[in-house]
Amino acid sequence: MFKKKDKKDQAQSYEISPEHILEVRNLNVRISVDDYLLHAVRGVNFSLKKGETLGLVGESGCGKSVTSKEILGINPDNCKSEGQILYRTKSGKVLNLLELEHDGATYRAIRGSEISMIFQEPMTAFSPLYTIGNQLSEIILLHDKNATKASARERVLEMLRKVGIANPEKRIDQYPHEFSGGMLQRALIAMMLCCDPDLLIADEPTTALDVTIQAQILELMRSLQKEFGMSILFITHDLGIVANMCDNVAVMYLGEIVEFGSVRQIFHNPCHPYTKGLLRSLPRMDQNRDERLYIIDGVVPLPVDMHPCCGFHDRCGECLVGICDTQQIPEYEAEPGHMVRCKLMEQGVKHHG
Ligand SMILES: Nc1ncnc2c1ncn2[C@@H]1O[C@H](COP(=O)(O)OP(=O)(O)O)[C@@H](O)[C@H]1O
Ligand SMILES: [Mg+2]
Repeated sequence: MFKKKDKKDQAQSYEISPEHILEVRNLNVRISVDDYLLHAVRGVNFSLKKGETLGLVGESGCGKSVTSKEILGINPDNCKSEGQILYRTKSGKVLNLLELEHDGATYRAIRGSEISMIFQEPMTAFSPLYTIGNQLSEIILLHDKNATKASARERVLEMLRKVGIANPEKRIDQYPHEFSGGMLQRALIAMMLCCDPDLLIADEPTTALDVTIQAQILELMRSLQKEFGMSILFITHDLGIVANMCDNVAVMYLGEIVEFGSVRQIFHNPCHPYTKGLLRSLPRMDQNRDERLYIIDGVVPLPVDMHPCCGFHDRCGECLVGICDTQQIPEYEAEPGHMVRCKLMEQGVKHHG
């Protein structure tokens, strides 16, 4: 067989800040659908330090999953990207992932052993035809050339134990359908740990689970992060989870990051009307039980026919007509490290939650 040559994989090395593992620079993703073009990710910039957890938040349809799939190179062929996704590999070389062939050898080596992803529907990650143990062992054998069948099985047992699966000696030989949703999410986390990634992308990993199981899975992820020291890009529409899990937060709306800051900055001094809306829609302890939760009016529109303006203007109660709906909105620094993309910042209007 003639092997497809991975010519673009001889990518050049780039420079990023020494404490960073990932720098996304001016990322744009356009998706062609039938006869129109969606501009799903618009000029996104963010970076992730080693061992840090960055929350990417926003309502459904904001572009969170498209952004994260672009990092892993798993968006479908109708998606075209521009910009840079600079990633520091385990060997220390910095690559622009956008230059790699999606199915090339370099990307295949990065996926799994360097960058792993866990997502909302763990069932789709497993084949129904093989036992959980077989599927996890296979990954270990694939990533560790020195592993044997017996050593891989031992390692799988250890990982199942680590993620809190009771009776792993029995569980290892069961099929995915014999696991509950919460157990399967644990097994998926075990699968991810078998690869020992430096970067974990968790896309709404607990959305399908009930709150008790959700709390357990989040606690598990926190303790594993402490132990293994990986960086996490945590994607969620739930700001309550962000407060528990993250160091920094990027708030995304209609393909743009509209506010970025530490968890403290975002929760104590939210500046963008969209962030404030998301925070107001969180249930609070001091709230009257009969009081209805706030909901931001409307839904995220499709990012089609985008012209320079604030994407949130038509849902914003503070929109400056003639400005927010007609101009490209620059970034403002609310305080050191706290970035806001909102014209109101220019007027020195200070907003507190
Ligand atoms: N493969 C695709 N084909 C067409 N449109 C897509 C595709 N993937 C995402 N989109 C659109 O891109 C936008 C962003 O989607 P997504 O990143 O999945 O949002 P989120 O994860 O924040 O809910 C949405 O308008 C969505 O409908
Ligand atoms: Mg999504």
